[in-house]
Amino acid sequence: MTVVTTLQDLHSLYRRRVPRMFYDYTQSGSWTEQTFRDNTTDFAQIRLRQRVAVDMSDRSTASTMAGRDVSMPVALAPVGLTGMQHADGEIKAARAAEAFGVPFTLSTMSICSIEDVAEHTTKPFWFQLYVMKDEDFVARILQRARDAGCDTLVLTLDLQVLGQRHKDLKNGLSAPPKLTLPTMINLATKWRWGLGMLGTKRRFFGNIVGHAKGVSDASSLMSWTAEQFDLQLDWAKVARLKEQWGGRLVLKGILDAEDAKMAAKVGADAIVVSNHGGRQLDGAVSAIRMLPDIMDAVGDDVEVHLDSGIRSGQDVLKALALGARGTYLGRGYIYGLGAMGEAGVRKALEIVHKELDTTMALCGERHVHDLGPHNLIVPGGFRASHIPG
Ligand SMILES: Cc1cc2nc3c(=O)[nH]c(=O)nc-3n(C[C@H](O)[C@H](O)[C@H](O)COP(=O)(O)O)c2cc1C
Repeated sequence: MTVVTTLQDLHSLYRRRVPRMFYDYTQSGSWTEQTFRDNTTDFAQIRLRQRVAVDMSDRSTASTMAGRDVSMPVALAPVGLTGMQHADGEIKAARAAEAFGVPFTLSTMSICSIEDVAEHTTKPFWFQLYVMKDEDFVARILQRARDAGCDTLVLTLDLQVLGQRHKDLKNGLSAPPKLTLPTMINLATKWRWGLGMLGTKRRFFGNIVGHAKGVSDASSLMSWTAEQFDLQLDWAKVARLKEQWGGRLVLKGILDAEDAKMAAKVGADAIVVSNHGGRQLDGAVSAIRMLPDIMDAVGDDVEVHLDSGIRSGQDVLKALALGARGTYLGRGYIYGLGAMGEAGVRKALEIVHKELDTTMALCGERHVHDLGPHNLIVPGGFRASHIPG
C-alpha cells in the first residue's frame, strides 16, 4: 500500500482507480493545454524567503472567506460530474470539507442534487451557478439553493461558450458512461469504482434531470445543456442575479483587472481570479501571474480569491502572500476523492494544511494574515500586464 504524503500520490491512485473517461475529463485542459500547464509551472517559479530565529509557536491558519470562518483559507471549488469520480462524490466531498472546516462548493453540473447534499451535511455549503437561458430554471435553482440553506452563491462568468477538450470528445464523455467496447474493457479493471456505482442511484445530473423543462433522461439532458449556457450574460445581468439571489455573492472566472473593477462595482462580496483550471481560454495567462495586477486594481475594494494550479500548501501560501484572501482546490481534491472517497478528500485537505503550516513556520510567520510579498522571491518579469491600447 502506497504511503500517501502528497497530492501527487493521491493523483497516482486516482489514475489507477477511476475509469479513463473521467480521469481524462479532470486531467485535461482546452486545446493545446498551454494555460493548464502554465497554471502549475508558474507557481513553481516563485521561491520562498526562509527566515530563522523567529518565534514560530502558536501558529494559526484560521481565517475567513467571504464572511465564513475557515480552518484554513482553502475551499473546495465547484467541479462538475464529481459523483462520477466516486459514487455519491459530492456528498462525500461536502462531508470531508465540513469536518475540516472549509467551504464546499456544489456545481450546477453535479451528480448529487442540492437537496441530496443538504440532507447529508449539517452546515451551509456554497452553490455555484452557470447562468442558463431558461430564466425559470435559474429562478427555481436559486430558490432550491436558498431552501437547502446555501448561504453563498458562486456565479461562474468564464463559461458562456465551452472550451474544447479533445479527449472528452474522443472518449464520448457522458454521465453515466455509454457502454461502448473500449469503455467496457476499461471499466472491467475498475472494480472498486464499479461496485460503488452499483450501490448508488445517483448517476445523472441531479440538479437538472426532472427540474429543467423537457429533460427527463440522459439524451435530452445532453442537448439541453449544450444549448443552455446564456450567451447574453453581461454585467447588467450579473447585477440582476445579485438582486435575485439576495445573499452573499462570489464572482468566479475573473482574469483581468478591468473585469475585476466591474465585479467590485457590481458589489460582489468576493471574486475568484481563475482561468477555470485551463479548461476555457487556452493561451490565457495563469491565475497566479495575473494576481498582482488584480490586487493593485481592486485589492482595497473587494475580497480576492484564487484558483487554477494549486497542488500544495506551498502554492496556497504563495497565493496568500501575493494578496489573495482565499484559495480553492479543484483537481487537488478530486484526486483524493477518486483515490479513496471521503477519506481521500480529508487526506488531501490534511496534506495541504500541513504543507501550508510548515511552510509558514519556515518562512518565519505565525499567522496566514501576516503573509505578504516579503515572504516571496518572484522572478523579474513574472507579473502579467497586457499592452494597453
Ligand atoms: C473536472 C472539472 C470540472 C469542473 N467543473 C466546474 C463547474 O462545474 N463549475 C465551475 O465553476 N468550475 C468548474 N471547474 C473549474 C474549477 O472550479 C476550478 O476553477 C479549477 O479546477 C481550478 O483549477 P485546478 O483544479 O487546476 O487548480 C471544473 C474543473 C475541473 C477540473
